[in-house]
Amino acid sequence: MDPRQRAINAFQRRFAGGPAWLVRSPGRVNLIGEHTDYNDGFVLPMAIDRAIWVAMRPRQDDIVNVLALDFGEEAGFRLAQLEKGGPAWSEYLKGVAWALSEAGYPLCGWEGVIAGDLPIGAGLSSSAALEMAVAKAFSTAAGWPWDVKEMALLGQKAENQWVGVQCGIMDQMICAGGRAGHAMLLDCRTLAFTHVPLPPDCVVVVLDTGTRRGLMNSAYNERRAQCEEAARIMGVPALRDAAPDELERWAGRLDPAVYRRARHVVGENARTLQAAEAMRRGDAPELGRLMNASHISLRDDFEVTGPALDAMVECAWEHPACLGARMTGAGFAGCAIALVTAAGAGDFVEQVAACYRRRTGLEPQAYVCAASAGASATSA
Ligand code: GLA
Repeated sequence: MDPRQRAINAFQRRFAGGPAWLVRSPGRVNLIGEHTDYNDGFVLPMAIDRAIWVAMRPRQDDIVNVLALDFGEEAGFRLAQLEKGGPAWSEYLKGVAWALSEAGYPLCGWEGVIAGDLPIGAGLSSSAALEMAVAKAFSTAAGWPWDVKEMALLGQKAENQWVGVQCGIMDQMICAGGRAGHAMLLDCRTLAFTHVPLPPDCVVVVLDTGTRRGLMNSAYNERRAQCEEAARIMGVPALRDAAPDELERWAGRLDPAVYRRARHVVGENARTLQAAEAMRRGDAPELGRLMNASHISLRDDFEVTGPALDAMVECAWEHPACLGARMTGAGFAGCAIALVTAAGAGDFVEQVAACYRRRTGLEPQAYVCAASAGASATSA
């Protein structure tokens, strides 16, 4: 059964009567622009048709009561008394409530059921999807309007300061403001964005390696620190401001690893802008070529791919229907994506899964995904 219906059914069983609202908040893949967001750079993500659903009903008091169906767990808290403790997933709810109330948004309580078909910890932004689902639930319950940038920034604040993960702004922005059939070109310095259509006659395939991140948080923070060090030594506010020839002039004065990290970010920003241009022209082969270059740079210079992601991407590259493939998200584990001709997608999914199984002994998931809209609420 689809997660929307599961949430509705469970709501009726647990809370009696029906939900008043259905909130949907999607996961995302990033077409290109990886590890650029915290360098004030450019990203090109798209929201996907896998999502977190919340069936919910506002309350007259300040109590939030939520059943997380996929965990078989319930959590409740009072908005006047937000404190840490409880199941890990409930920290995202409290964190978002905390960030919203700090920013002065009036909040009222609600009860609800959360269910999803978005794999958790797979690099498809289940955390940001949950944050934006909760923000949407609060905005719907209290009746204030949805502002993409504001909500994304407060979701990020919840994750940085309440949950304690130092993510950038990309995931929350695409989840809050995605558009069906489009990717989002986002300037992570100004948060200005435009929607660019996916090229015709091709599809995006999610290639889940079946591996999950372990020590990712520390490696992510180390990459961030290296990028900041490069910017500091070069005397620029962020790597966004470093031109390729400028970076070359500094090469000898940067630690070799720090230099390679910076080279990835500077190149990736340029590729992301070129990719958005290619999409506007409907030039899928050029978009694919840029995705391949992105993967190679993430593998050799930024060093965030690893054997499973590399094996998956190589299997994808070998298939004739593949226009381009790369890891997506923070890296190390989780998912790759491929841009594939629509006509060849069925065979691609089968062959790449078989190739990956053969080379790694691991069980992958491969599926075509559609570019979907960002977080929304509809009356039930
Ligand atoms: C994670 C973070 C994002 C971004 C990517 C890498 O998904 O949450 O903010 O930094 O990694 O591009």
